[in-house]
Amino acid sequence: MTAREIKPGVHAIASVHWERRLFDSLIPLPDGTSYNAYLVKGSAATALVDTTDPDLRNDLLDQLADVATVDYLVSNHTEQDHSGLLPELMARYPKAVLLCSAKAQDLLSTHLGIPAERLRVVKDGEEVSLGDKTLRFVYTPWVHWPETMCTYVPESKLLFSCDFFGSHLATSDIFVTDKAQTLRAAKRYFAEIMMPFRAAIQGNLKKVEALDFDMIAPSHGPVYDDPAFIVEAYREWTSPKLRNEVCLPYVSMHGSTKLMVHHLVDALVKRGVKVHAFELTVTDIGDLAMSLVDAATLIAATPTVHVGAHPAIYYASYIANMVRPKLKYAAVIGSYGWASKAVDQVAGQIPNLKVQILGTVMQKGLPTAETYAKLDELADAVAKAHADDPDVVKD
Ligand code: FEO
Repeated sequence: MTAREIKPGVHAIASVHWERRLFDSLIPLPDGTSYNAYLVKGSAATALVDTTDPDLRNDLLDQLADVATVDYLVSNHTEQDHSGLLPELMARYPKAVLLCSAKAQDLLSTHLGIPAERLRVVKDGEEVSLGDKTLRFVYTPWVHWPETMCTYVPESKLLFSCDFFGSHLATSDIFVTDKAQTLRAAKRYFAEIMMPFRAAIQGNLKKVEALDFDMIAPSHGPVYDDPAFIVEAYREWTSPKLRNEVCLPYVSMHGSTKLMVHHLVDALVKRGVKVHAFELTVTDIGDLAMSLVDAATLIAATPTVHVGAHPAIYYASYIANMVRPKLKYAAVIGSYGWASKAVDQVAGQIPNLKVQILGTVMQKGLPTAETYAKLDELADAVAKAHADDPDVVKD
């Protein structure tokens, strides 16, 4: 990729990881991803903000081939997809000083072996002059690590946000050209790694909104040259507001649980509740996480394996618990052959979710008319809980 100017004197150095399909050996990347560094040339000094994933080392180094001097390296975030090349860049630019937040100091040392004498901790709000441009450091902790910060250039009205507002999206476009596509990728990204820190992010959002910027340059995905839509999206995702929606992960072994799921989906739809159902043997777990950003209710549907919940439901419940969605209600349905502890097991998997259990329907063998009546009662309970809850947005 070629370095491209996004503001006078500011170049985006994007490394596009077209082939990558998994992050952290966990998170599916259906659209690949990118890692963006930014070169800021002032009249007196030059800074490089963040780096790239070591797998794409050459992408970054090729784009820096003509850059003889870097005075400052800025580490907004220590995770190695942005910091992994710092040791090599510090060797390449021996006079460069590495600027980081107070909490990053220890992390950069322990994760990357950066020597203390090359580091300079910057305080929240501190400024470093590059001559006709200024770097102002804005602490934004827990987006999604404790040390995260943004770098703001007031003269350019430009915010370097690293993971904040990012999207896993491989594209040759440097700016957002398809807002719907970027919004979906950014929502998936938020669901997977930002959602557990919703409260902290809400505070950080207010903090950066006080800055006068017209461009957000994240370190994943395209640059926002019209950033209002992504800021508004973050406002909504971090707000307490929920949608009249159910997230329904399910698995079926011999068809009983599937019959129950299909009946329940229909019953919920008849009552005006939207359902996102995910058959877990074919589900992209990122899609499931994304539905949890807005859903008011989680309903897990599981058959019974050796008296316990199906492992796929166990896994999905663990993921739901880990990403800490704001949902408020839950239920478990499913089937069994002779006995089942699946309900207790699923309930035990979600201690982080402060949910009200609206009901459980466990069926021995094939569902009957009585089973379907119980599922209708559960659908009634879900619809009523949503209708009565002032946090659930009514369409
Ligand atoms: Fe893109 Fe938290 O690293």
